[in-house]
Amino acid sequence: MKAIFLLCLVVAAVSARPQQYTNKYDNVNLSEILSNKRLLIPYVKCTLDQGKCSPDGKELKSHIKEALENYCAKCTNSQRDGTRRVISYLIHNEPDYWKQLSKKYDPQGKYASKYERELRSL
Ligand SMILES: *[C@@H]1O[C@H](CO)[C@@H](O)[C@H](O)[C@H]1NC(C)=O
Repeated sequence: MKAIFLLCLVVAAVSARPQQYTNKYDNVNLSEILSNKRLLIPYVKCTLDQGKCSPDGKELKSHIKEALENYCAKCTNSQRDGTRRVISYLIHNEPDYWKQLSKKYDPQGKYASKYERELRSL
């Protein structure tokens, strides 16, 4: 009896947890990528369909639109932090790429302006 109860709890806990993106790439060293244009630009070009995609770039690109639309609802904590760091970096240091990205993934400017307001002040 007790075991069945426990099992139900586990099932409920697992199914209640929102679906998340894979954390397979969560230990990518963002500081390193953001401090090195040679590493960063290929990711940006991949997401803009202007260059080849690495496996992690492909994963990133496949979720970018949805993550933007639901404010990273399925992101792990480290992905949420990472997203903010990347967007903040792009806004401050690569405004042209940021413009291209927001034009591609948010043509009506519905989401980008919220991020910009929030992240410009960081
Ligand atoms: C990430 O990269 C930075 C800059 O190259 C380096 O200083 C730091 O130690 C690295 N962090 C990890 C966890 O590898």
